[in-house]
Amino acid sequence: MRPAELLSAMTAAEREAAGLMREAHDILAECKTGHRDVVTAYDRKVQELLIARLSEAVPGARFFCEENDRHDELSAEHLFIIDPIDGTMNFVRGLHHSCISVACCCGGVLTAAAIYNPYADEMFTALRGEGALCNGRAIRVTADPFCETVTACGTSPYNPELTDKTFALLRMAFLESLDIRREGSAALDLCSAAAGRVGVYVEPSISLWDYAAGKLIVEEAGGVCRTLEGEELPFDGRKSSVVAGSRENVAEFLRLAAKL
Ligand code: IPD
Ligand code: CA
Repeated sequence: MRPAELLSAMTAAEREAAGLMREAHDILAECKTGHRDVVTAYDRKVQELLIARLSEAVPGARFFCEENDRHDELSAEHLFIIDPIDGTMNFVRGLHHSCISVACCCGGVLTAAAIYNPYADEMFTALRGEGALCNGRAIRVTADPFCETVTACGTSPYNPELTDKTFALLRMAFLESLDIRREGSAALDLCSAAAGRVGVYVEPSISLWDYAAGKLIVEEAGGVCRTLEGEELPFDGRKSSVVAGSRENVAEFLRLAAKL
């Protein structure tokens, strides 16, 4: 199947599943690994619908998903990495800033990505080698230097042992850039970096389903994603730190972080 066909199946499935999020009511949070790590019936319904639609569109498709521990081989011919609702805490609390994130990997290579924010009606997409778009318009990381941009951050809420490290980084970012933002969805933070709305997005520990689609969108928007050690992000299912933005701003962030 051509990458463009895969992407169109992904965006169609996300737009349909977004209806479940928009019409959600009586949202009950259930704890997963701890009181901050929550899931709702809607996360599961969105994921089921995406798996159903993508399985119809791509016979033999495999899946690596946030909910229900469906973790197929990452090297499969057509593997979809799904975060059904990224920003579940926002979703539960009625803070309308969450999204559906789907990446498609072909033989272990990130090929297509689609992240949809149903509240802002923004669809971020990327195809490997063909650039990144928001609602069909090309996006690009900012050319502004780190000190003249806002920094998006995540607090790695499910890793309280990282609290001191996280807030040291955020303090540095607050002092060295214009300000910080903690909006509550790693996938949308990556899209904000790709669209040049923020200079850098940083978070000390997130999961593959949080960053897979956003990584391709950032790279196709001319940016880079690195770990806090300056390495490429892993693609083996492990959690990772992420610093994303223009090559220059990521390098500047890592230079400043190394002094902490
Ligand atoms: C979380 C959000 C949050 C980030 C966490 C993620 P979830 O994803 O992206 O912004 O700080 O690290 O796990 O649990 O809402 O899908
Ligand atoms: Ca997530």
